[in-house]
Amino acid sequence: MTSTLITGISELVTNDAEQDNGLLGIVEDAAIVVSDNAIEWIGLQSEAPAADLHRDVGGRAVLPGFVDSHTHLVFAGDRSAEFSARMTGEPYDGGGIAVSMAATRGASDDELRSLVRRRVQEMRGQGTTSWEIKSGYGLDVDTEARSLRIAREFTSETTFLGAHVVPPEARKDRAAYVELVTGPMLEACAPHAKWIDVFCEPHSQYAFTEAESRTVLDAGKARALEVRVHGNQLGHGPGVQLAVELGAASVDHCTFLTDGDVDALAASDTVATLLPGVEFSTRMPYPRARDLIDAGATVALASDCNPGTCYSSSIPFVIALAVRELRMTPAEAVWAATAGAATSLRRNDIGVLTPGARADLAVLNAPSHLHLAYRPGVPIAAAVDLCAGEELD
Ligand code: NIG
Ligand code: FE
Repeated sequence: MTSTLITGISELVTNDAEQDNGLLGIVEDAAIVVSDNAIEWIGLQSEAPAADLHRDVGGRAVLPGFVDSHTHLVFAGDRSAEFSARMTGEPYDGGGIAVSMAATRGASDDELRSLVRRRVQEMRGQGTTSWEIKSGYGLDVDTEARSLRIAREFTSETTFLGAHVVPPEARKDRAAYVELVTGPMLEACAPHAKWIDVFCEPHSQYAFTEAESRTVLDAGKARALEVRVHGNQLGHGPGVQLAVELGAASVDHCTFLTDGDVDALAASDTVATLLPGVEFSTRMPYPRARDLIDAGATVALASDCNPGTCYSSSIPFVIALAVRELRMTPAEAVWAATAGAATSLRRNDIGVLTPGARADLAVLNAPSHLHLAYRPGVPIAAAVDLCAGEELD
């Protein structure tokens, strides 16, 4: 097995508490040895062992590749006009999901596959190395199942979101749609999914009530799917408490939280996944990240890349928003987009750089992680496969 020694790392973010150097476990003037796409050794460059191959990154910062734990990459069509209308005052209510649904149903597998491929490349180009992908723009048995089959070609972190909204043809009989989702649709989709998710949102007429959400999530659990929830996006509501009660790995958005919601999250293992690109793109208030962190909740950051509420796959953009608007420290934001997001996927082999973890690396054209928030909009981060000889910019 070929090993590769990587040197010239001005700052290595490990997220390893044992490094005893702040939240990010930073090692300065570091080197790592990688073998078979796993981290074999980490330490000071002056103490580095020999290896078969050698790469020098020339004084750049190296981080665990970003973990984007919330995306909706399988969709066709364009909703830029909806975004434009929102910027002049139209509120977001989830109604546009039906527009993406129609375009997605009409797209061939190959068209969807190439759209996902392009979006994944876009993510890698900004430092993301792992991504969760949801269905949710099919909303019929066939299109939900093929969305997940295609998603599965790009990640093992696939999420069945048949309960994204009630599709237009089912709006006269919501109960029948919940039966479809928990019956034939779940049967067809469960083999391709690790997770089940629901848009639990009483403030949208298209999304699901607490009772409907509970029915959907219970059915998913009975099929051995693990639970995540879209909750508290458009107003205060039951999503967070339901997620905590059901032992969800994550409740995502958390835009409107009561003190009780913050306390419930802090007392639970459910990760609060914040998606500030959504507040940016929908002109909503930013979530209470400081209160969550100060109370002891685990916070993750993700993009929510989707055609309606945030058509951006950029984790560096999310980190900059988290620092500027959510008042997270740069270290908290980087941790949340790496180790925090990995925790929300119940993974400990990604989001950290420790011996045995996957050698998924984000390389910055900058000397430290501070530059991610300090240089917003500048493409300084990329996922680089140094062992495969991939070039640095
Ligand atoms: O995470 N909130 C529900 N789902 C997506 C948006 C979907 C859309 O508008 O296309 C979200 O924000
Ligand atoms: Fe989402």
